[in-house]
Amino acid sequence: MTDAPQPLTARRGGPLTGRIRVPGDKSISHRALILGALTVGETTISGLLEGEDVQRTADAMRALGAQVARGEDGTWRVRGVGVGGFTSPRASLDFGNSGTGCRLALGALAGSPITATLDGDASLRSRPMKRVLDPLQKMGAKTREVADGGRLPITIEGASELYPIEYEPPVASAQLKSAVLLAGLSAPGETTVIEAQATRDHTERMLRHFGAKISVKHIGTNDVGRRIILQGQPELEPAQVLVPADPSSAAFPLVAALLVPGSEIVLEAVMTNPLRTGLLTTLKEMGASIETAAVNSDGGEEVAELRVKASALKGVEVPPERAPAMIDEYPILAVAAAFAEGQTVMRGLSELRVKESDRLMATAEMLRVNGVDVQIENDDLVVNGKGRATGGGQVTTHMDHRIAMSALVMGLGSEQPVGVDDASFIATSFPGFADLLRSAGADLG
Ligand code: S3P
Repeated sequence: MTDAPQPLTARRGGPLTGRIRVPGDKSISHRALILGALTVGETTISGLLEGEDVQRTADAMRALGAQVARGEDGTWRVRGVGVGGFTSPRASLDFGNSGTGCRLALGALAGSPITATLDGDASLRSRPMKRVLDPLQKMGAKTREVADGGRLPITIEGASELYPIEYEPPVASAQLKSAVLLAGLSAPGETTVIEAQATRDHTERMLRHFGAKISVKHIGTNDVGRRIILQGQPELEPAQVLVPADPSSAAFPLVAALLVPGSEIVLEAVMTNPLRTGLLTTLKEMGASIETAAVNSDGGEEVAELRVKASALKGVEVPPERAPAMIDEYPILAVAAAFAEGQTVMRGLSELRVKESDRLMATAEMLRVNGVDVQIENDDLVVNGKGRATGGGQVTTHMDHRIAMSALVMGLGSEQPVGVDDASFIATSFPGFADLLRSAGADLG
């Protein structure tokens, strides 16, 4: 995917100002391509994230028989093959750095009578896939040539009719839930997923948008869980999808504006699905000035404009139940915590160990080389903030886009510049990151 490493350095400069629109949501972009590919007829997608991860999913859908094309106006058109209609790809499907693309595709292609091999880069090859293969095997898919611990490359044999199952994922993972639901499209009867803790529900919302029959009940203490029931073998209907701006990408300019004195920015059209807003909740508890200036609902998802002003932050305790709603935001929250006064404790972060890198370790290391007092205690991250950071560190990104962007935001607020060894992976989720931040006044070079 990436060739030579691209080092990049961030320095403290003047305030960040202006209106910023970050690219489309990554989770929704993958799902729109996959559901479009599973639907006969033409699906149109506006605002698709054109990052490398999503391009890999587009390539995979093409290799499985769907037509996927980008129009000159930036609208993407997908002509799908219908549920169960994929054909065996001629070569292995390369998902690059993308866990979402790979795990959702495993579920989607399990319901076609084909054989496919899935692969990825060194980071993706190190990530657990067994969690997805287990339920898919229960549903009747077969896997071959799987390395120890269920790592890529994986060869999977699907079937046009799968068994519906009732499944309780052992970990809170939207990717795992989505793989089971996508496979459930090919299973006659009801496929049920029971989540002890709700995770992002874009698959459920989008399945409904494409005409599937799906019901979602809130369960458990304080309604934190979900019981999701999908009726299999539906006639999906092609749809129009509008992809709102990705809150996980907006998190970087947002925290940068909080840290750099005098900053004031507006983030446009950010998705505010309540299962994605854990970072906003936490930053507000820390004292951040974030105003929700306008709200509307865009294509089945809540969307808001966020006005962010530089703020003095204080340390807080982040409960483990909040993790699914901000799972990708801990590295950038840890940066905010370093600039806060006092201790921030982030609890229940075991899933961070199996992201694009061991993000718990990589986040602690990023802070430590920049002079921050940080500890990992079991699955918790403890940051002792001093209201400022020395910086001056060179951060190893471990093929992880979010570590790269977090480290660079840290450099915008630190006394000394902060460098990253390789910024190239930022293109997986946030193409144009450096230019967009420069346009708001950031010193990145
Ligand atoms: C995603 C789910 C999360 C998240 C990832 C995107 C999704 O992963 O970290 O960036 O689109 O379903 P897990 O399912 O592994 O928690």
